[in-house]
Amino acid sequence: MRIVLLGPPGAGKGSLASLLQKQLGVRHVSTGDIFRQEIARHSALGRRVHRYVTSGRLVPDRLVVAVMAARLNPAQIDRGIVLDGFPRTAGQAAGLDRVLKRRRRPLDGAVYLSVPMTVLVRRLTGRRVCPRCGANYHVRTMKPQRPGRCDRCAARLIIRNDDEPRTIRKRLRIDQAASRPLLAYYRRRGVLYRIKGAGPLDAVFERVHRVCRRHGWLG
Ligand code: AP5
Repeated sequence: MRIVLLGPPGAGKGSLASLLQKQLGVRHVSTGDIFRQEIARHSALGRRVHRYVTSGRLVPDRLVVAVMAARLNPAQIDRGIVLDGFPRTAGQAAGLDRVLKRRRRPLDGAVYLSVPMTVLVRRLTGRRVCPRCGANYHVRTMKPQRPGRCDRCAARLIIRNDDEPRTIRKRLRIDQAASRPLLAYYRRRGVLYRIKGAGPLDAVFERVHRVCRRHGWLG
């Protein structure tokens, strides 16, 4: 299956995409993870996107689409992907469609996770991440087994630098403005599915899984 996960910062796109990869074997590709890895490596791409990512602004569409067109290899597209954090704008959505069209593998669905604002803020302020393997935790709802340590690789967990309260508010504002035309784009294409993203992660997974089964995306 080929789906994109949409939703504001903190909607749970990354957590859900990881679970979809683990349970269904579809490849999870996250633009946020790609950019953070490149920043950590001090690569040319990392230097170009650094100021956008740390301040919560969107990386320009042309650059994002070029990066993703290069990263999404044909075999991955054929086997199935779940995209997290991309596309973010209607321009990026059109860019993704062009990439998939070249491969004659259209998008199955754009799944929008709808979550109340108070829950988003609570999730983002309590998020902890592993700087080594990228695993995601929450101080109350998704605790690691050993406090402050990653379950997968035992590295010390950190707070993402864009999870500072002022930057969170800015990201939520920017997302609101960009997502209206993005959702309109997918609604027009007839592939937009709204899912309740509040509640435990396994319940959200079950809702999305049901949509995948109902539409025959799992092959
Ligand atoms: P990105 O990393 O994509 O950040 P985001 O979209 O702001 O989304 P988040 O990662 O904050 O949230 P999420 O929805 O993945 O939630 P998560 O699963 O972590 O992008 C970062 C930056 O990169 C952008 O600001 C921009 O600068 C740049 N960028 C990236 N893509 C771009 C693009 N396409 N175009 C332009 N610029 C781009 O969950 C959040 C917390 O809640 C976690 O602690 C988790 O444990 C917890 N949680 C999740 N689900 C549940 C649940 N069901 N119940 C309880 N807790 C939960």
